[in-house]
Amino acid sequence: VSLRTVEVETAPRYRVHIGPGALELAGESLARERRAAVLTDKRVAALYAASLRAHAQVPLLAVEPGEGAKSLARAEEVLEFLAGAGLDRKSTLYTLGGGVVSDLGGFAASIYMRGIQVVHCPTTLLAQADAAIGGKTAVNLRLGKNLAGSFHQPRAVFTDTAALATLDESDYRSGLGEIVKCGVIAGEAEFATLELQADELNARDPAALAIAIETCVRTKARIVSEDPREQGRRRALNLGHTFGHAIEHAAGYGVVPHGVAVAVGIALAMECSGELGLLRDPELPSRIARLLQHLGLPVTLPALRDRARRDLKAADLLSAMALDKKGGRGAVQLVLPCALGQLELGVSPPETFLADFFARR
Ligand SMILES: NC(=O)c1ccc[n+]([C@@H]2O[C@H](COP(=O)([O-])OP(=O)(O)OC[C@H]3O[C@@H](n4cnc5c(N)ncnc54)[C@H](O)[C@@H]3O)[C@@H](O)[C@H]2O)c1
Repeated sequence: VSLRTVEVETAPRYRVHIGPGALELAGESLARERRAAVLTDKRVAALYAASLRAHAQVPLLAVEPGEGAKSLARAEEVLEFLAGAGLDRKSTLYTLGGGVVSDLGGFAASIYMRGIQVVHCPTTLLAQADAAIGGKTAVNLRLGKNLAGSFHQPRAVFTDTAALATLDESDYRSGLGEIVKCGVIAGEAEFATLELQADELNARDPAALAIAIETCVRTKARIVSEDPREQGRRRALNLGHTFGHAIEHAAGYGVVPHGVAVAVGIALAMECSGELGLLRDPELPSRIARLLQHLGLPVTLPALRDRARRDLKAADLLSAMALDKKGGRGAVQLVLPCALGQLELGVSPPETFLADFFARR
């Protein structure tokens, strides 16, 4: 198997192996463990658990698929499973699945016996490009998403792009939204590669996917190693997310897939940059919108209204944005590009600007 490898320079540092066949390598690594277990969900278990466990029938727990598994109750079940399987401090938990499984498994591994090693085998585009990298783990509380969690870097990540062939269309498109986000953050060369390979990406070509995912992993790895606990630079990764979260909130959670909301969020952030006079190249918003549309993603609120079959009112979007103040300083803080690879991290436009901005869309 010929794979691309990215080194993530956090403490401890780790490698991400990317390409078709990475799951085989993960299976070999699993077979070398003194003691290990696998956490997955039932859908992924039926598709890929046999390849991962081809050389070693280690204990396996499969949770119900979906966001509902990110709960303290499921985390407790995982911890009891690890104890029942006889894992000790030197053992390793392998996660196999999407961001739900890597978040839940990473969290359980970070607290079982005060922390054991975790290896991620992400199988959704979103998890391969984003969730399995960077060491953030979380479960949800009744009052909100990701409210309980930890920072726990994996020991290694095995990213098999061939596994994406079985992903649902909507999960796949959603992942492409995050891929475009990474291209905008990374710079001209990386974004141009996405433009050149858009047809291959639409066809889920594993080699083109490996290149796009490698760019995301490199970009996230660089930012995360500079700012492992999200005190500054890491906010760049929130590009499109303030608008995106507002859209998800206003539409009702689960109605618009996350990466689809982020796609519209990126397009809106670009227009916002233009109106605030931040852009160096006035053509950039339409260039980015073209790529998003080529990848089957919406770029305007009206297009999203049709998909969500729900009106997204300016007032609802504004109040959702006010709730999502990741900067924590009382005002909405936007991540806005000036050019490919160059972002302003904490722009707080006057509230009247945003109200007027939404009213015109
Ligand atoms: N920790 C982080 O830094 C981080 C970053 C981004 C997102 N997240 C989290 O990730 C979660 C979303 O992740 P997701 O989009 O991967 O969702 P998910 O894990 O729920 O997976 C989506 C669906 O795809 C199925 N699936 C997975 N792999 C498949 C495959 N290869 N073929 C067919 N079906 C497959 C799953 O069973 C599930 O039904 C959210 O909870 C989000 O908070 C975390």
